[in-house]
Amino acid sequence: MKVCSTAPGKVILFGEHFVVKGAPAIAGALSLRAKVCIEDRVGGIEVVSMDRGWRMEFGRNELPQLRQFKRIVEYAVEEGYLSGVKSFRACIWSRIPVGAGLGSSAATAVAFTASLLEFHGVSYGASDVWRVSLEGEREVHVNPSGIDNATATYGGLVLYRKGVVRRLKARLPKEALLLIVDTGVERSTGRAVKHVLEMYERHEGVFKHIYRAASSLVSEALKAIRGRDLVKLGELMQLNQGLLRTIGVSNSSIENIVYSAVKLGALGAKITGAGMGGSVIVLTTKGGFSAILEGLKPFAKGFIPAKIDSRGYTVLFSRNN
Ligand code: MEV
Repeated sequence: MKVCSTAPGKVILFGEHFVVKGAPAIAGALSLRAKVCIEDRVGGIEVVSMDRGWRMEFGRNELPQLRQFKRIVEYAVEEGYLSGVKSFRACIWSRIPVGAGLGSSAATAVAFTASLLEFHGVSYGASDVWRVSLEGEREVHVNPSGIDNATATYGGLVLYRKGVVRRLKARLPKEALLLIVDTGVERSTGRAVKHVLEMYERHEGVFKHIYRAASSLVSEALKAIRGRDLVKLGELMQLNQGLLRTIGVSNSSIENIVYSAVKLGALGAKITGAGMGGSVIVLTTKGGFSAILEGLKPFAKGFIPAKIDSRGYTVLFSRNN
């Protein structure tokens, strides 16, 4: 038996961090995907990262990278999805950069979960894939809101709040171009989230107002997307970046990129994901794209033109050999 599934990375357009404490956020699936194939094996469970070059067996040479996958299998058993676990080998490939705020661990967890459930012949739906994969994400990040896994599961543009996922019918206007700019600074989402939650505790009286502003910003962003108002969308991105700076997840590399992008004609730019490094997302149109890309070269490690992909997880094939 062999099963292969894929799932997309994500960009958060509005509301990262605030979403952890129940504010709404908007994210989009990327065309960069992770793929996990699960096949029969004799003598236990093995997970192989084809890109990173590690190979580990459950109960033998376990390193932290394995925790996410182990927890998904355990949780699938605890919750009654699997009555028994077969021996298998899971091979992982990913085109999503790690530590760049683009949802690489969530995409891998979602593709792994879909392949695992399919491999065991379980009947399941998207909400099961989201729920089970999120348990794996909890091993990697502190307090994940679930938005990364929701976007990797459902695809397209997603409005997310407190575990409720709404796939938006509206799309970004055709002329909108999103450019992901890699700051080149790898960072941990867990650490960034912990820092913000600690700041919240220390300054709750002030922070609750910032979180309220972040919620209004998402309502306004929804109106701008539905009204195809790119200028307003860009301005809201700038406001969102201001709030992210205020809660302490920006730094000089990010600020340089955001400031330069706008100076070069971008409609807006902001952190996407946890910040403190990772990636910045820039909103522009075809006319401004090349000048922005050229002008940002001195500040960036790399660029990815981002297209919102309507596909969530996909089981590529499932076959008995
Ligand atoms: C990470 O992609 C987004 C954060 O809001 C954390 C989360 O929602 O779990 C920073």
